[in-house]
Amino acid sequence: MKKIVLSGMRPTGALHLGHIAGALRNWIKLQDKYECYYSIVSWHALSSEYKNSKVIKNYIFELAVDWLSAGLDPEKSVIFLQSEVKEHAELHLLLSMIIPLPWLERVPTFKEMQKQLPDKELNTYGFLGYPVLQTADIIIYKANYVPVGEDQVYHIELAREIVRRFNRFFGKVFPEPEVLLTEVPRLAGTDGRKMSKSYNNAIYIGDPPSVIEEKIKPMVTDTRRKRRSDPGEPNDCPVFTLHKAFTPEEKINELAQACRKASIGCLDCKKVIIDELIEEFAPLREKRNELLKNPKIVWDILEEGNKKARKKAQQTMEEVRKAIGF
Ligand code: TRP
Ligand code: SF4
Repeated sequence: MKKIVLSGMRPTGALHLGHIAGALRNWIKLQDKYECYYSIVSWHALSSEYKNSKVIKNYIFELAVDWLSAGLDPEKSVIFLQSEVKEHAELHLLLSMIIPLPWLERVPTFKEMQKQLPDKELNTYGFLGYPVLQTADIIIYKANYVPVGEDQVYHIELAREIVRRFNRFFGKVFPEPEVLLTEVPRLAGTDGRKMSKSYNNAIYIGDPPSVIEEKIKPMVTDTRRKRRSDPGEPNDCPVFTLHKAFTPEEKINELAQACRKASIGCLDCKKVIIDELIEEFAPLREKRNELLKNPKIVWDILEEGNKKARKKAQQTMEEVRKAIGF
């Protein structure tokens, strides 16, 4: 029996290089070893975007397109939409009966996000319950592993505590999920800050070659290299973060040395990563364009996934209701 993996992403816009080099590459690898469930967590998006709910559907579509183009394979994994598997909501409700309020009030992101994003008015019942819904997402498939970045570790720890409490009250229904920590390389965006959609400095998988070139050419580099003859330190260079994530190993070492000896100019060095990205993303872009032209294919794939996810979730819920005594 294969172990079970579940992870999810909120549909909040197109995927950029940071997502590819971090989560996606890892998820794609896991597909061959585990029974994988990958969920577009539409209700989680709603918990913070409820004032702008109409955009979510389009983000769902974009995220599905990006996942499929990047190599998530519906033949290998269950790729599905959280809000189409209503059993998650039932389990969320049942869990909410047994979770002491302080467990949720002390989740660091709960207060932090409210402070950071006052306009979103995140002082809601739903937002407080965000980690409960996340727990339901995971345990309804009896997932053993949850591949996530550092920022989600607290949520998974909480999921484990919730599982222990549930199993103690009602009998052992759920395994405790474990984190599969994803190394997320810190990619710099075009302005040298961390690559992020909200900084408007990201390179997207859908970017055509000309845009990739336009974005990378003017990027800041190590400030020591004022002149072509000044040696630099690649580890202090934003462009080099892209090399580390996408350029083949041997080539990286060669570039690093050349940078330190000033035997290569920054433009030449940028040309290498531009060509690398254009080449590596060519098949992806092609797949993406094909899917964008045929939205029905994308929605059909999701519907197939929803059906498979539903089947498993329904089985679990039968057990849960029985365990509780209903
Ligand atoms: N909270 C996660 C994030 O913001 C998204 C998420 C929802 C998730 N449900 C999940 C991740 C279940 C892993 C497993 O990235
Ligand atoms: Fe950065 Fe490359 Fe220029 Fe060195 S040569 S500073 S790594 S762009």
